[in-house]
Order: sequence, then C-alpha cells, then structure tokens
Amino acid sequence: MFESTDYLPESCVIVIFGASGDLTARKIMPALFNLTAEGRMPRHFHVVGYARSDFSTDSFRKHIGASLRRHSRVAPEGRQGAFERLQENTIYCRGDYSSLPDLTALRKELENLEKHSGPPQNRLFYFAVPPETAADLAGRLQEAGLLERRLPEEYEIKGFHRVVMEKPFGHDLDSACELNAGLLEGLDENQIYRIDHYLGKETVQNIMILRFANSIFEPVWNNRHVKNVHITVAESDGVGNRAKYFDSAGALRDVMQNHVLQLLALFAMEPPTGMNAAAVRSEKARLLGGLSPLSEEELRCSVSRGQYGSGSVGGKKALAYRSEKGVAPDSGTETFAAIRAYIDNWRWSGVPFYLATGKRLARKLTEVAIEFKKVPHNLFAPFGGENLAPNMLKIQVQPDERIAMRITSKSPGLKLSLSSVDMELPYSSRFSSQSPEAYERLILDAIVGDPSLFASNEEIKLAWQYVTPILEYWERQPDPAFPNYEAGSWGPIEGDDFFREDVCYAELESGR
Ligand code: BG6
Repeated sequence: MFESTDYLPESCVIVIFGASGDLTARKIMPALFNLTAEGRMPRHFHVVGYARSDFSTDSFRKHIGASLRRHSRVAPEGRQGAFERLQENTIYCRGDYSSLPDLTALRKELENLEKHSGPPQNRLFYFAVPPETAADLAGRLQEAGLLERRLPEEYEIKGFHRVVMEKPFGHDLDSACELNAGLLEGLDENQIYRIDHYLGKETVQNIMILRFANSIFEPVWNNRHVKNVHITVAESDGVGNRAKYFDSAGALRDVMQNHVLQLLALFAMEPPTGMNAAAVRSEKARLLGGLSPLSEEELRCSVSRGQYGSGSVGGKKALAYRSEKGVAPDSGTETFAAIRAYIDNWRWSGVPFYLATGKRLARKLTEVAIEFKKVPHNLFAPFGGENLAPNMLKIQVQPDERIAMRITSKSPGLKLSLSSVDMELPYSSRFSSQSPEAYERLILDAIVGDPSLFASNEEIKLAWQYVTPILEYWERQPDPAFPNYEAGSWGPIEGDDFFREDVCYAELESGR
C-alpha cells in the first residue's frame, strides 16, 4: 500500500498452487488480469498454474478465459490486449504437491521461463491450497530447489522468492505457532505474505487515512468520547460449496480471528510512527496484545455462538445449516459468533467493542460503527428534544463503500424540532474511479514487496491467543442447542442480551 509501484520489478514468475480451484478462478486470475490491464504488472511476467487436475496449457487458458468473463470487475472484451497478454504469459503444469519429481519438473519450467527474462530470478509462490497442503508445500519447494531463503539485501542480485499464504493459519494458538515455526525454518519472515483479504479492501485501508490524515477524529478517538464500537461482518450467504472446510472451522476461526480482529486493530491502534509496514504492523500487534483476556464469567456472558436453522433470506427459502450439502446432520459448528471485547489501555479502557460475524443473516453488511457519548447537558429537552440521538460514525466496507456521520440537526420550520441526519460519503457517487478488488491491491503489494497490508506472524499469534480460550471454553460445554437462529434473522436471541443496550445494535436488528 505504501511502496510506490515504481518498485515494480522488471520480471516476475507467479506460480499458483491450487490453480484449478475456485479462488484462482474467482479472485487470483481476475486480479492478475486487472493488474495487466492497468499496466501494473512487471514488464516480463509469467503465470504458472500448478494443480493435480488434468489441464493442458491450452485448456487451462480457456478455463481462465471463461473465469475472467464471469468474475473480472473489468470485462475482458474491452481490454483485448491485456487479455491476450495474460493468456500468452500463462502456462499450466500438472503435478502433485508432495511429489519431488513433479516439483522438479516445475523448477525446470521456471528456469526455462527465466532464461528469457534474465536475472534476477523473482518468484512469487501463491498457495491457494487447503491448509493441510500449504503447511508442507514450502518445505517441498525448498527440497526441489524452487524456493530459497532470501534476505532483502540479496534481492537486487539474486531476486526475491516470496510465498503468499491464504488463511487459515492454523486452527488454534498451538497449530498456528507450529505452522509459523515450520515456515520460518527454511524462510525469512520477509518472504512470507499472509493474506487477510479484508486488509486489501478500499474502505478498510481508508480507516488509516480517515484517522491519520484528518485532525478532527484523533481528539475524540478514546474512552472520553466513544461509548461503544460495533464491528460487524454479516453475510447473507451460507457456506456454499465450502461446507467441508467451514464445518471444521466455524465462524470464530473463519472470520472473527482474522478479518474482524484486523478491522479492530486498524480502528483502535495507536498512530504508527510512520506509514511503513514495520510501524503499522507493530502497532496492530500491540493493540491485539492489549485485548483484555476473557475471564470464565465473560466467556459465559460476553461471548455468544449460534447456528442457523431454516428460514428465508432475501425472499428465498434457505436450508438449515445442518441440511446443507457436506454438513453433518448433528453438526455443532457455529455459523455465528459474537464477543463483547475490551482493550486494556488508557485510550480504550471501559469501552465495549461488540464484534460479530455470522452467515445467513438478514443481509450482507460489513461495518465499523462508532457510537459517541451523548452531550453532557441537553439544552433541548424543554423543546421536545428529550432523547437526543447520539452521534455515530459508520464506516461501511460492503456491500456499499460509504462513510456516514450522524449528527442532530434542526428540521426546517418555525417550530423547534430536531432530527438525526447522516452526512454521507458514498464512494460510488463521489469518486469516478472504480475501487480495485482487494486481491489486486494485495497481489501487487506482494510483487512490489510491501507487506503493510499482510498480517505478521506476531499479529496472527496474538489473535489466536485471544480467541483460543473461547474455543476451549466451548469444547468444555455440553452440546449447544442448535439451531438457535433463523436464516435471514440477525442472529441468536441469546446473543442479544449483551448487545441490546446499544443504538447500533438496535438499528442492525431493525434491519436499518
Ligand atoms: C473468507 C471466509 O475469508 O471471507 C468466508 O473464509 C467468508 O467464509 C469470506 O465468506 C467473506 O469475504 P467477503 O470479502 O465476501 O466479505
């Protein structure tokens, strides 16, 4: 995000492991196409798709072409030159992820491609594979001589070797530490880019701009002025075709541990000493380390989980989670998780942060909503303004990118009457350029070598440190009485109690 694209290397080979999968088709290749169309790819680049599926280079190109037509934000028809360039520069290698002969054949392919572009040998390995495969893959690549430990000072002569890893990074604190330790045996931390795609979203990046490029927010960004903060990642979709993975993960691991806590870290961290990766990541880690550990009482009363039953979402009937294809009929996996969190520092002490995420909720909405304290003395009570609404700042990440500040205003007229109005910044009508997809930003940053928008080892560890006691607590409890919320609602009733008192939640519940 912060490194200029002047640092774009002359050449780079991007190897995608899991090239036949959904992520490659929906996100990675469309991102590479849009970067090509915008002239943001290195002068010499190649994309090598690697997977077990039976594609030839030709049939893979056709498959990618179809995916681009379906998923790219810019239609390939309008950018024929970029489309052809990407197609020509893409090849496919069929192979197994643990087979040394297959990976050695891949190395030869890479060396062949690199002969044309010349040194340095810049390689980006994108692990779009299941976590159990990803854990071993880095080691295998090193054995096959494809991936080496490289330090930043070696880049200029030898080139960089980087690994982009998709979440999940482990399934609890111990497994995350083990995964990281395994990776760091053969690689340097600067070579590992752990994707949390929420960090690539425009409005998420804008949290930092809003906070640190404006002077009016910092004075009120603390417990003297903020009553509470809601961070919500609500989805109307169910588990789709990812039931196998999701059923072994659940909402707490799938979204809370990463996306929600990353949003919290950006929102609440101290101002970094500079806009560089080291400074930003260390402030985020400090914030995550300051999350107040949940006591046994809080685990009982300030954390809630749920699973959807059947219902209706957006006017369409939705199956219960347990009836979804690939989900066990007695599954105890949570599809909703909520936490009332506190941060132990001077700035935020005593301010509740309501963190919530769930699937099959009433609608898709990702938002950070800040409720400010009311005015200390209400001058307007005698004139019918007893219940002055609190000021609220809402940073909506999706579906519409928008920032809104709620203020109280006089309604025009001879009678004194007050109303709450939103001052809005809707991205779509205010800015003429279209927001790039999160993956475009992140893949470009990985090529350029800017890890600011990637989670560090330390952040991941601290996020797991916070949520693992919840997972352990749930394991100690009898099976929950699931399902406990209807598909298309705003989550389980029990989850309401500790959310109910706040304005943001009441609004969410009433469907806005
Ligand atoms: C992924 C989760 O990381 O994020 C999914 O694994 C979830 O379960 C998705 O649906 C949400 O991402 P977005 O960008 O659609 O909000």
